[in-house]
Amino acid sequence: MSLNSDTKPHAASIDWERIRSAFPALTGDTVFMENAGGSQVPAIVADAIRDYMLGSYVQLGAGYALSQKATDVVARAHAFANVLMNGDASKSEVVLGPSSTVLVRTLAEAYGRTLPPGSEIVIAENGHESNIGPWVDLEARGMQVRWWRADPEYKACTIEGLRQVISGKTSIVAFPHVSNLLGEVVDVPAITQIAHEAGARVVVDGVAFAPHRAIDVAAWNVDWYFYSAYKVYGPHMGALYGTHDAFAGLPGPNHFFIENDDIPYKFEPGGVSHEGCAGLLALGQYLRFLCGASLEDETPCTRGDIEEAFEVMTACETAAQEPLMEYLLGRDDLTIIGPEHANPSRVPTISFRHRTIASQEVASRLDPTGIAIRAGHMYAYRLCKALSIPVKDGVVRISLVHYNTPAEVARLIAALDKALVD
Ligand SMILES: Cc1ncc(COP(=O)(O)O)c(C=O)c1O
Repeated sequence: MSLNSDTKPHAASIDWERIRSAFPALTGDTVFMENAGGSQVPAIVADAIRDYMLGSYVQLGAGYALSQKATDVVARAHAFANVLMNGDASKSEVVLGPSSTVLVRTLAEAYGRTLPPGSEIVIAENGHESNIGPWVDLEARGMQVRWWRADPEYKACTIEGLRQVISGKTSIVAFPHVSNLLGEVVDVPAITQIAHEAGARVVVDGVAFAPHRAIDVAAWNVDWYFYSAYKVYGPHMGALYGTHDAFAGLPGPNHFFIENDDIPYKFEPGGVSHEGCAGLLALGQYLRFLCGASLEDETPCTRGDIEEAFEVMTACETAAQEPLMEYLLGRDDLTIIGPEHANPSRVPTISFRHRTIASQEVASRLDPTGIAIRAGHMYAYRLCKALSIPVKDGVVRISLVHYNTPAEVARLIAALDKALVD
């Protein structure tokens, strides 16, 4: 399958009914606009989890046929996650785990055991706490934190800001591909190049990016990249990509007798959710469905399919994001916390504050309408502090994904018209 520029979907030709038919939850009364917190799953993903649990729920690594089948599912899920991120199996691995937060904690612990004291870690202040706290905690082991400060104009951390804090002593640069509050896509290859020139590795939080665009670790040349599968139409799991080079020499948290080169297992103490792996694999079928295949078609999902599927998603999102952004910008009682446009350098995760109505109050006023949004600091606690946003109240965040329709956005706009009256 391949989409060229003539066949790429335009708003008028997007078949949202077909897309939404894959998600049973979307037939209910709730309008899901808190997707940055977690997305819905296609039936095919839930079915795969169920089928696995009822049909091959046995331990891995034994010789009998069912155990071999289970082992194969888990191995294929790791390989699929590598393809999903455009890793190269001969050069990289993906560690799976319960969440991104746990995976970054594990990674930071490993660095804490190997980095020499005095090593510097550059941390983007606009990140989610999961890619901040574990690195800050290394100060107790003699590392030095250098803050890559947030931009007071509600933009992503700037390249100039990075240049001010990075040096030959920097070992790690930890930053988000997209802030889960601001929604702006940063220039990962440019940042990575600067980090590499300084001799540092990058740890990129792709959680807020991954539901919207195809991850491409090869093009960006990153060392570490992670995302949360449960925000990308999959089961509650996290995935951490690392190059073989980055993994080399890092001690994993698994038992002492697990070989040092047993990657990813060295980094997966207690193993992974086997049924989650089955669900993750089934996502490939949904991505092919987005490219036009039938949901029953079990042809393996290729990298080309993945890229096409995300192009379809981007087209859907753009069609829904544009009218919403236009509406929000048209109100003079709102401040958008993030870039004020809907172009591709932004994902449809849109935060704002009202001039007089508290963010928590805005969200509560929407609750009875069945439109699910959220207010708070979204664990971008330090960013809120840096921007002088009261952390308890935080921002109102509306986060769309490809299954949100312009009709749902129109419903949201009507609800906001009523709710935003002080
Ligand atoms: C940008 C970002 N990074 C990291 C995380 C943490 O992900 P997890 O819940 O998988 O630990 C989140 C969760 O909301 C997030 O939005």
